[in-house]
Amino acid sequence: MRLILLGPPGAGKGTQAAYITEAFGIPQISTGDMLRAAVKAQTPLGLEAKKIMDSGGLVSDDIIIGLVQDRLQQPDCQAGYLFDGFPRTIPQADALKNAHVPLDYVIEIAVPEENIIERMSGRRVHVASGRTYHVKFNPPKREGLDDETGEPLIQRDDDREETVRHRLSVYRDQTRPLVDYYSSWAATGAAEAPRYAQISGVGSVDEIRDRILDILRAHH
Ligand code: AP5
Ligand code: ZN
Repeated sequence: MRLILLGPPGAGKGTQAAYITEAFGIPQISTGDMLRAAVKAQTPLGLEAKKIMDSGGLVSDDIIIGLVQDRLQQPDCQAGYLFDGFPRTIPQADALKNAHVPLDYVIEIAVPEENIIERMSGRRVHVASGRTYHVKFNPPKREGLDDETGEPLIQRDDDREETVRHRLSVYRDQTRPLVDYYSSWAATGAAEAPRYAQISGVGSVDEIRDRILDILRAHH
């Protein structure tokens, strides 16, 4: 299974990626998680990316495309892969297309903006694994601690309300055009074109998981 999870910040891409990668035995390629790991390790990339991420802007296409190309060379990607938070611009999508990176599915998780601020403000993450919780909607078993490692959860620096609002406007301008890009490519029925499905991301985490897995299993 080779797929892209598309959707605005806070749609639940990272949350749902955990279930899909487990169901199909594939790695999650989250450019956001990769960048946060670089920030934590204080690599030159991390130092450069931190300022941009904290402002809610996008890291340059060249850097992101290079990161993803390297990641796809790893042997675990033979089994398939799930892209989370990538591609996010038309040039990033074109880079995948021009490199003939195979894709079976693009799943768009649609969530209205009014739900998003509330989701982001309660989000807590385990940085090392990327596991994501919400204080109200998806709480960890023990408050403030990761379920699997027991390590502390943190709040992301870019989850402040004004940064979230900026990220939403960046999404509208730069990423939303990919909805049309992939749905119109799918409609051509071209051999290389992935199938396209939009699902509602409103509902419980389990309901949305079932919506996505039903679609993916129907064609696999
Ligand atoms: P990234 O980490 O990709 O952030 P994002 O796309 O803005 O998405 P989020 O991680 O905020 O949301 P999500 O959809 O994963 O939602 P989640 O599952 O966590 O990128 C961060 C930054 O890195 C970017 O701003 C940019 O600077 C840079 N970057 C990354 N990739 C890049 C690229 N390709 N190009 C350029 N720059 C790039 O859920 C959110 C919250 O809601 C959680 O608390 C969760 O528990 C809760 N929740 C989930 N589902 C539900 C539900 N059904 N009901 C209620 N609550 C729910
Ligand atoms: Zn995420």
